[in-house]
Amino acid sequence: MNHFDLVNGVLHAEDVPLPTIADSVGTPVYVYSRATLERHAQVFRDALSGLDNPHLAFAVKANPNLAVLKVLARQGYGADVVSGGEMDRALAAGMAADDIVFSGVGKTAEEIVRALKAGIGQFNIESEEEGRELATLANTLNLPANAVLRINPDVDAGTHGKISTGKADNKFGVGIHRAPEIYGRLDALPSLNMRGVALHIGSQLTSLEPLETAFGKIGTLVQDLRANGHRITHVDLGGGLGVRYKDGDNPPEPADYGAMVARVTRGWDVRLMFEPGRVIAGNAGILLTRVIRVKPGAGNLPFAIVDAAMNDLARPALYDAWHDFEAVEPNGQKMTANIVGPVCETGDTFAMARDIDVVAANDLAIFRTAGAYGATMASTYNSRGLVPEVLVDGGKFAIVAERIAPETILAAEHVPDWLK
Ligand code: LLP
Repeated sequence: MNHFDLVNGVLHAEDVPLPTIADSVGTPVYVYSRATLERHAQVFRDALSGLDNPHLAFAVKANPNLAVLKVLARQGYGADVVSGGEMDRALAAGMAADDIVFSGVGKTAEEIVRALKAGIGQFNIESEEEGRELATLANTLNLPANAVLRINPDVDAGTHGKISTGKADNKFGVGIHRAPEIYGRLDALPSLNMRGVALHIGSQLTSLEPLETAFGKIGTLVQDLRANGHRITHVDLGGGLGVRYKDGDNPPEPADYGAMVARVTRGWDVRLMFEPGRVIAGNAGILLTRVIRVKPGAGNLPFAIVDAAMNDLARPALYDAWHDFEAVEPNGQKMTANIVGPVCETGDTFAMARDIDVVAANDLAIFRTAGAYGATMASTYNSRGLVPEVLVDGGKFAIVAERIAPETILAAEHVPDWLK
């Protein structure tokens, strides 16, 4: 469910016709719907209403835009961050430091110190080495450090290999069989407040089964840790719920996820924590683009060349991801075409032999489900500008991230004197 619909033959974001945004901001541009973000935040929260005071931390990596974070902060969400930069954004959006969880396999000492000083709520430690470093830094600064140990449960999430994180050979967390001894050593460090465990097995999960298997393993581990005398008060179940990218996709409903979690975690007696990203932001954004021209291709399949490219939306090039493509003012006719961007490599292809609305030069079109892992993964490859972002709220809209022009990027580069 989202708020990008046809109204009188023209695609709108809530009450704003997309051509209005294109005229005002130019293309390509990401457009987010506040009502959709809020709805998803509410649906996810409702799905967990059977739990006692769950902690909701939006995975900032999915969409770190400051205004988007502000919308979610106002919905009572905290943040899951994986860098000092993401932490700064969450704090700038008004999220309480205590509601921020710091994940990530390569936190630097500098980032740990900054997070300790900011008073963030929890470190999700990914190795014994990291835990020891955190303990030393917390001791030196004499600051509290709440921490949980991220477990790698060795479960196949059944998702794309590049976004699977819970198999034994993935870099994340500590192997579940080694967890009790590592937890024991970390819990013995006086400056660490070890309070539980965390896991996250991957993203865009289209089945609840691997999650249930992983949660079951964590439940057993919690019992083992308690049997060893540890006080376990928090378990972070990560993110990962998939969303619908195309017709026929059938990701789990948040309500079914919530019911499964309630069933599997019954009696754990911990505060459960969640790190949803895509399920909140994915369908709340689109990438608005303009067709530059259509040129004939081999086998009678034309290339629709749009002004968005792999540097603006990397997912198709990186993961062969599907994003629905629709004309902003469809005339009811269809064609089969390849949709490509202007970047000079064949990987800059959004779709091959796709049945799409007929489009011609200068027509506007959208890629759907671009609100998560869209703008945040953009680059300036081919010396293109950095794509701007717009937030719509009912009948109004605002630029929430400006386009960074190629000239601005060029101005930040310097030729050393000895080369002039
Ligand atoms: N927690 C942790 C520790 C994570 O690593 C991630 C995502 C999340 C939560 C949020 O997962 P979500 O609920 O969004 O599935 N760029 C890729 C996705 C990478 C996901 C990385 N980790 C893509 O475009 O599909």
